[in-house]
Amino acid sequence: MVAPPIVLGGTGKVGRAWQRLHASTGDPAGFHFLGREHCRLDDPASVSELAGSPEAQGALLVLAAAFTDVDGCERDPARAEQVNAHAVGNLARALAKGSGALLFYSTDFVFDGKGPRSESDGPEPLSVYGRTKVQAEEAIRASGVDHLIVRINVPLAPPDDGESFYSFVTGNLKAGKPIRIVTDQWSNPLDTDRIAKWSWEAWQRGVRGTLHLGGGTYATRYDIARFIAEYASADTALIQPIRTSDLKQLAERPKRGGLLIARQSELFGTAPDLPTILKSLPK
Ligand SMILES: NC(=O)c1ccc[n+]([C@@H]2O[C@H](COP(=O)([O-])OP(=O)(O)OC[C@H]3O[C@@H](n4cnc5c(N)ncnc54)[C@H](OP(=O)(O)O)[C@@H]3O)[C@@H](O)[C@H]2O)c1
Repeated sequence: MVAPPIVLGGTGKVGRAWQRLHASTGDPAGFHFLGREHCRLDDPASVSELAGSPEAQGALLVLAAAFTDVDGCERDPARAEQVNAHAVGNLARALAKGSGALLFYSTDFVFDGKGPRSESDGPEPLSVYGRTKVQAEEAIRASGVDHLIVRINVPLAPPDDGESFYSFVTGNLKAGKPIRIVTDQWSNPLDTDRIAKWSWEAWQRGVRGTLHLGGGTYATRYDIARFIAEYASADTALIQPIRTSDLKQLAERPKRGGLLIARQSELFGTAPDLPTILKSLPK
């Protein structure tokens, strides 16, 4: 009997999309959704416990949990390494030993901000967060585990799923609050529901290695915010253009971020543009 897939990070934005996907497909194989109370990635003993558990033997682990606070990683690099890199490496090696498999989420922050980049481009992270995600990717590949690394950028999630760029823009603009948005960071966002659906379909179709998922519109954060405002019938005049350097953030952000998605297009056809993607999100 095939062990049911395990999703770790079911409370996060991508994890919640996996929960919706599971609810909508009613997959009889079932999924186990695990949260921090089942496995703490910052605690090596807790990671070993999950890795050695009977449920993990022969199972696919969808790893949607991570230390995603980019400036927080810069402030606490030891924690970032444990959660984002060491824990992932330990899980990958244990899964390899137990005939399990791993679907892991990574990011365009593994690149140098001179993109967008393709799956075959070499990583050159600018931040602790990006470096720890590269370490995780390398540990997964070295472990020999059956795996798919899905890189995403600026996932757009329904506001109820937690803070995302989408909820930040809609929440503030609907409250009539002005927001300052950078004009020099580029990306091609995709919604979390498509991310979950396409990740799962790709896995089931036998896609392995590294896969970029992204939308068909490559734009600055400022222009993306304007698209969102127009979709939500909010006042675009409340969006004030600034430069990344104005934010004085701890971690360096990739400027020309985003992901080239030729492999995705071969699998799922031409990527939807941003107005189409936004239609799948509640206003
Ligand atoms: N958001 C982005 O802009 C973005 C962009 C590119 C790639 N990604 C990647 O995509 C994946 C999913 O991101 P997301 O946006 O869904 O993240 P998110 O909304 O920040 O959720 C993070 C998840 O990780 C869990 N988590 C955090 N620290 C943990 C720990 N020490 N032990 C166990 N669980 C822990 C959280 O649990 P709690 O709910 O208990 O805190 C939550 O379920 C991550 O690998 C991330 O690096 C995200």
